[in-house]
Amino acid sequence: MRRGELLIGGEWVQTREHDVVLSPYDRHVVGEVGRASADDTRRAIAIAAAAHRAGGAPPDHHRADILAAASALVREREESLATCIAEEAGKPLRAARAEVERGAETLMFASVEARRLAGHVIPTAAAPSGTDKLGFTTLHPKGVVAAVSPFNFPFNLVCHKLAPAFAAGCPVVLKPAGQTPFVALELAAILLEAGWPREFLSVLTGPAREIGDVFVESDDVRVLTFTGSTEVGYGLAAASPKKTVLLELGSNSPVIVDDTADLEFAAGRVAATAFANAGQSCISAQRLYVHESVAESFLGDLVARTEALVTGDPLDEATDVGPLIRPEERDRVLSWIRQAVDEGARVRTGGAVNDDGTLLPTIIDRATPAMKVCELEVFGPVLAVQTYDDFGEAIALSNASRYGLHAGVFTTSLSRALRAARELSFGGVNINESPTFRLDQQPYGGVRDSGNTREGPAFAIHDYLDERAILLQFPPDG
Ligand code: SIN
Repeated sequence: MRRGELLIGGEWVQTREHDVVLSPYDRHVVGEVGRASADDTRRAIAIAAAAHRAGGAPPDHHRADILAAASALVREREESLATCIAEEAGKPLRAARAEVERGAETLMFASVEARRLAGHVIPTAAAPSGTDKLGFTTLHPKGVVAAVSPFNFPFNLVCHKLAPAFAAGCPVVLKPAGQTPFVALELAAILLEAGWPREFLSVLTGPAREIGDVFVESDDVRVLTFTGSTEVGYGLAAASPKKTVLLELGSNSPVIVDDTADLEFAAGRVAATAFANAGQSCISAQRLYVHESVAESFLGDLVARTEALVTGDPLDEATDVGPLIRPEERDRVLSWIRQAVDEGARVRTGGAVNDDGTLLPTIIDRATPAMKVCELEVFGPVLAVQTYDDFGEAIALSNASRYGLHAGVFTTSLSRALRAARELSFGGVNINESPTFRLDQQPYGGVRDSGNTREGPAFAIHDYLDERAILLQFPPDG
C-alpha cells in the first residue's frame, strides 16, 4: 500500500486527513495521500513567493544541471515509476514505460532551454528617436507558478508543468490529479534529490476546489497553468484577470483517410493510437473521415486490427488497452455509444465491456456530426466513422468543431497534404500520422476551445519570463 504526504517548500508534511486512491482496474486500494487545506496551500505559496523575492533561483547553468540530473534519475527509476503509473492511472505497463521515457526527455529539453536563455537586441535606429541609443532585453522569472495537472499522463504532463517553469527560474506549487498523486510525488522526490531548491517546490494533494480557489485568490501566484476540461480552464481564466493563465484543454481530434492513402499503414497507425490510454488523451483520434471508395476495405482491416488489441489488466505485459479512470466514466462513454446507435450509428466492433468490466475498443460507423461521440470530447476508446466523397468536405467536417488541438491526414497526394496543412485549423496537423502522435519538443497546444498556449519547453519557457527592455543613450559627443 502506497502512502503519500504533502510536500510544502521541499519538506514532507503529514496531515491528519487522507484521501484513498483506488485502482481504476479492480478498485483495490492503491494507497492514501495527504489532504491539503487552504492554509497549507497559502503556506506553500508564501514560501515560494519569499524564495522568488529573495532571488533564490540558482543561475541558469545550475538549473540546467539539476534538470539534466533529474532526467538521468528518472531513467534509472523507470520501472518503479512505470509500475506506479500502471497501478494508479490504469495505463498499460508498456505505455507507462513510454510515458516515463518521454518525461525524461521533457526534463532534458528543459535543461537545454535553461542554458539558452537570452534576450533580444532592439533595432533602435529603426526609428529616428532611437538613432543614438543601444537597446537590448533581459529575461526575468515571473514569480510563483501554480500548476494543476491531469490524470491521463500523470508523469510526463507534470514534467511539462514543472520543468520549463524551473528552467525559467520560477518556483512551482503543483496540484496533481486526485486519481494519480503518487507518481507526481515520486517525481518530486527525484527533483529534490537532483538538487531542486527546496523552497522552489511544493506538491499539494487533496481537494481540487479548495486548493484551486487559493491559487486563484493569491496575488503572489503570477502564472496559473492548467491542463483539463475546457469549462474548468476558462472558468479559472475568467476568475484570474491579473495572472498569466495557460490552458491545455480538450479536443475531438479528426483523422482523414483519402483514396490515395497507404491503407494498411493508415489502419495500423489508427488502430495503434485511437484506443491507446483507453482514448484518454486530448489528441486521441476520435472522428474518422474516410473516402467512400476505400471505406469498406479500410474499415475491414481497421476492425480486425482493433479486435486483435488485448484489453484488460494494466499490469499485464500483454495489455494494449486498460480501463477508464473510473467506472462512472466507462458508463458515460457506453451511454454515448448507445445514444449514437439510437440515432442511426452502427457498432462495427466493441460497444460492450469484457469480463473484467473494461470497455472494449469501439468503432462505430454511420456517425453524424450532431452525435455526442462526434461533437463532444469522448475521452474514451471510441472512434466514430463517417464517409466523404470530396476532400474539401472532409476538411470542412474536421474544422466544424469547437475544439482544435490536433488533426491527422493519411494521403500520398502532395497537393492534398499541402492543402490539409493550410486549411485544417488546428494547433497541429500530422500528415501520414495519427493526430494522437506528439513530440515533447514540438509546440503543443490548441486553437478555439482547446486552449491558449503552447507546451514544449522551448516554447513554454517564455510564458514564465518577463522581458525587460534596457535602453542606453550614447554620450552626445563621446
Ligand atoms: C494530452 O492529453 O494533452 C497529452 C497527450 C500527449 O502528451 O501525448
